[in-house]
Amino acid sequence: MTAWDSIAARREGVPVLMPGHVWLAGAGPGDPGLLTLDALAGLQQADVIVHDALVDRRVLALAPKTARLEFAGKRGGKPSATQADITARLVALARAGQRVLRLKGGDPFVFGRGGEEAMALAAAGVCFRVIPGVTAGLAALAAAAIPATLRGINRALIFAAGHGAGEDFDWAPLARAGQPIVLYMVMHNLERIVASLLEADIAAQTPAAIIAWATTPKERILVSTLEELCDAARELRFEPPAIVVIGKIVSLRERLLGASESAGKDARR
Ligand SMILES: C[S@@+](CC[C@H](N)C(=O)[O-])C[C@H]1O[C@@H](n2cnc3c(N)ncnc32)[C@H](O)[C@@H]1O
Repeated sequence: MTAWDSIAARREGVPVLMPGHVWLAGAGPGDPGLLTLDALAGLQQADVIVHDALVDRRVLALAPKTARLEFAGKRGGKPSATQADITARLVALARAGQRVLRLKGGDPFVFGRGGEEAMALAAAGVCFRVIPGVTAGLAALAAAAIPATLRGINRALIFAAGHGAGEDFDWAPLARAGQPIVLYMVMHNLERIVASLLEADIAAQTPAAIIAWATTPKERILVSTLEELCDAARELRFEPPAIVVIGKIVSLRERLLGASESAGKDARR
């Protein structure tokens, strides 16, 4: 019995991607090993795979040659499809009877506009399924041997986006929560956000880390303090995609490094 058969036997079979349906799936942070089996089932059944820039090419390579790949992301400052274009395309493909896999990096509903796409599909009456993925905020911490939670250290974990529609976001309440903060899409605003957090009285010596290209061959890790983070990132040329994590959980890494495969991945100043 294959692993597929074994899983299928324990639930209602492998889900079937029907003509005219859309699966809105997370591709995880990069490493194909972090794909869910349902996302893999989607890759194997889809006629069309509409994917974002951060979907790893090793993941896309799992699709059969018969599947058509459509790029719908942003690439190197070139004009990219608008969200309205993307949702219109998903609806058109579904109405044309295609089996559509909408594949997004990480989890489709975490800072990925998957919610907007699901709402558009619902409004258009297109039948869809959402397949969660491993979000970069958790994968990056795990890749860097930083426990997301540890009893006695934190009771919450804050996920926040470093840019978004409301650029006047108030960081002080997040700082006051005294819990680790995991930042997505932050590299272009890092100095401004770090300054806001310091102003809101997060201690300058709070441990902080940047994990770029987590779970890919380009993965790099920088461990520093909040006050030194921006200088170190500039000096070592850390660029997106990256996750920034600020809080005591970062210092736990020291104690795990001895036997962790994450050891030796740190960028050095
Ligand atoms: C538009 S958001 C999409 C987030 C995605 N839906 C998720 O759940 O991970 C893109 C941001 O996710 C983060 N990201 C995605 N993949 C990453 C990776 N492999 N390593 C580090 N950060 C990553 C970066 O902060 C990047 O700017």
